[in-house]
Amino acid sequence: MATVPTIKLNHGGVEIPVIGYGLGTAHFKRAGDETLDPAITTATQTALTVGFTHLDGAEAYGNEPELGLALSSSSSSPKTPRSSLFITTKLYKSISSPSEALSTSLKKLGVDYVDLYLIHAPFWDEKEKGITIEQAWGELEGLYEKGLVKAIGVSNFGVEELERIRKVARVLPAVNQVEYHPYLQNPELKEYHNKHGIVTAAYGPLIPITKGAPGPLDSVIEDLSKKYNKSATQILLRWAVDDGNVVITTSSKEWRMKEALAITEFKLEDEDVEKIRTVGKEKRHRVFWNKEYKE
Ligand SMILES: NC(=O)c1ccc[n+]([C@@H]2O[C@H](COP(=O)([O-])OP(=O)(O)OC[C@H]3O[C@@H](n4cnc5c(N)ncnc54)[C@H](OP(=O)(O)O)[C@@H]3O)[C@@H](O)[C@H]2O)c1
Repeated sequence: MATVPTIKLNHGGVEIPVIGYGLGTAHFKRAGDETLDPAITTATQTALTVGFTHLDGAEAYGNEPELGLALSSSSSSPKTPRSSLFITTKLYKSISSPSEALSTSLKKLGVDYVDLYLIHAPFWDEKEKGITIEQAWGELEGLYEKGLVKAIGVSNFGVEELERIRKVARVLPAVNQVEYHPYLQNPELKEYHNKHGIVTAAYGPLIPITKGAPGPLDSVIEDLSKKYNKSATQILLRWAVDDGNVVITTSSKEWRMKEALAITEFKLEDEDVEKIRTVGKEKRHRVFWNKEYKE
């Protein structure tokens, strides 16, 4: 089974595997839907069995119980010990009460701690929710300092919101999970992350060959697929890692899960990483949180 490299986070030596399996998008359940969906548990068990150790969940995905079942089930064989897993969850709807939100998530997941706890997005109405970004971050710092989570971070934050946190923070975010792929590179944000030791976790890595296709990268990806004898999916996932990010992907299919993990077996040459970066900048395509980003 592939050994997935890790990146050290700026929080207590915690290490995050460079590729994670996502419980969002395809596995998303509508809010309030309490019926357990066995397909989600089965897919997650398969992901664990083929070798994913990094699992990306969220309160908003409505499927923490399914993720919990997959984690506890003996049919994910051989069973991965908790200490070898990296579990992320996120809060958003319950942003007014992070401590209760975390207790609820831990109960649903059936674990004593999560490795990474993220504020899912910065777009809530601060008056309506009765909590500012600075206060919410302070609450997460409290959870981290009590040892209830191994690391804390944010998702979908821009430089402006990260600066609000930096001005009051005792601990800076370890991770900012954002939509990031060749058609959405945001160099200003990346530079900020690099300057402050924040790891970029890239979601939507396959958008150039899924919702963002066709585009200027099509022939480049085709040529690189031939050069490395790897699929277009693998070229894009590998690009995300060779560009210095953690990559979050998902699939309901075992062969695609294996294909994704097999990116640990090769590496793109620097000039090819740069080529994808350069040609990717010819198109801009955002898929998630479009309304909130107002672009
Ligand atoms: N923080 C946030 O706000 C946020 C937002 C979005 C996503 N995320 C996280 O990131 C994870 C991954 O997001 P994503 O779904 O955008 O990831 P992705 O890796 O870009 O896309 C995976 C999806 O594309 C499909 N796919 C894969 N290869 C394909 C191909 N060659 N042609 C057509 N379809 C293909 C897969 O379907 P199959 O099942 O058929 O393989 C799967 O549904 C989510 O699950 C979630 O954990 C976070």
